[in-house]
Amino acid sequence: MKYLTSILAIAGLAAAAPTSSQLEERDVQTVHLIFHGGPASYNLTLPADGKVYPTNNNIAVSIIDAPDYNAFQQCTFYTPGPHTLASSISPEGVGQVIVGPPQPVTGVSCYGMCVQTYGDCYSQGQYVGPCCNGFCAANKCRPWVQPT
Ligand SMILES: *[C@@H]1O[C@H](CO)[C@@H](O)[C@H](O)[C@H]1NC(C)=O
Repeated sequence: MKYLTSILAIAGLAAAAPTSSQLEERDVQTVHLIFHGGPASYNLTLPADGKVYPTNNNIAVSIIDAPDYNAFQQCTFYTPGPHTLASSISPEGVGQVIVGPPQPVTGVSCYGMCVQTYGDCYSQGQYVGPCCNGFCAANKCRPWVQPT
């Protein structure tokens, strides 16, 4: 009987803990991306939930602006051919992903959280997460380029 009680107690704990899918829904961030190919561009907004979202656009993309997400590290870009990605920062301080050779991006998936500018990348000595668009210094995410 004592044994059975312990099993029920453990089952009760498991039921009370939030499932990982509940946590993900609560924590999912919204990612804004701007795809550039020569003079053409398009925008895509997607949740960072790990699912693949189609772009529905076939311009050959060379630069992707990511003003509010750490896209180079936390997004996957799907292309018809092999590609190499590089990370860059625009003169205005916007994080960018450079696509070589330029080609259509058919879909994007992003996953995980990042810390917005002036948010805490460290809190009480604990690492919180990577900065969405900037660098971590003195416990805060700082913009790549200081606003003037
Ligand atoms: C795309 O996003 C940029 C930056 O947020 C914005 O300035 C522009 O108006 C958007 N374009 C469209 C077509 O929504």
